[in-house]
Amino acid sequence: MSKRIDNQPLLMDKVVLITGAGAGIGRVLAQAYAKKGALIVIADKDDKGLHGTEKLLRDDGFETLSLVVDISKPEQIVTMIHEIERTYSRLDIVINNAGFGIWKSPYDLELDEWDSVINTNLKGTFLCSREGAKLMRKNGKGGSIVNISSTRAFMSEANSEAYAASKAGIVGLTHALAVSLGPDRITVNAVSPGWIETGDYNKLRPEDHAQHPSGRVGTPEDIARACLYLTDPLNDFITGTNLTIDGGMTKRMIYTD
Ligand SMILES: NC(=O)c1ccc[n+]([C@@H]2O[C@H](COP(=O)([O-])OP(=O)(O)OC[C@H]3O[C@@H](n4cnc5c(N)ncnc54)[C@H](O)[C@@H]3O)[C@@H](O)[C@H]2O)c1
Repeated sequence: MSKRIDNQPLLMDKVVLITGAGAGIGRVLAQAYAKKGALIVIADKDDKGLHGTEKLLRDDGFETLSLVVDISKPEQIVTMIHEIERTYSRLDIVINNAGFGIWKSPYDLELDEWDSVINTNLKGTFLCSREGAKLMRKNGKGGSIVNISSTRAFMSEANSEAYAASKAGIVGLTHALAVSLGPDRITVNAVSPGWIETGDYNKLRPEDHAQHPSGRVGTPEDIARACLYLTDPLNDFITGTNLTIDGGMTKRMIYTD
């Protein structure tokens, strides 16, 4: 049994799929995994954002397979996994990061708006996991899946019903998949970010930081480190869990006098 306790890269030549990699957290995830030696597959429905990420990776000397994919479209997910198999013949890690929300009163939220959020965040996460796991099973070498949920799976502001339901669904989906895919040595975990600033961090106000028990707002790098931890092959005893990365915000009572 390995005794490694240091931080050496163990992802050399692992094939990693990151959805929603054309912006924000997904872009930083792609850069973080590339630096660990992994072969990166980036997918996004926004081709401009995707090519921006591709350029950043190439400028740093990393090759990437870039696929324009709308994960709310099941047939596009199947094609994406076929393309990965054709290129690399394997898949080791899937980070289901693509997602979005619609903030609207539940009195006014239209059914097609509800469906669009659920179809991307929840159904898309399920289908990328299912199709990705088929290829991992074919390899016979196990793998790991990380589903990006949200602290909004556990607590809410008003007018976030579809997003909250989709993210809570992801937490349930995660533990169900962990049990089902365990025999194929595939771990499945969730990460629930709190406030992760993907814009200009310098524009945040002192009170934005101060309200967090950690004393600061989160960064995409905070999420990248959590994903690297959960997908480290040595951490295969961790499956079915959810890691909340929110600077302690969901543990803070906010009753007012
Ligand atoms: N930033 C935060 O504070 C925060 C907090 C909690 C959870 N999250 C979650 O983290 C993930 C990334 O968030 P972000 O802040 O980087 O968002 P972002 O909007 O900056 O990036 C999301 C990316 O996903 C892509 N995407 C959206 N729908 C897609 C679809 N159907 N198919 C393919 N790609 C699609 C977008 O084009 C975009 O490039 C999301 O799942 C989000 O819900 C973010």
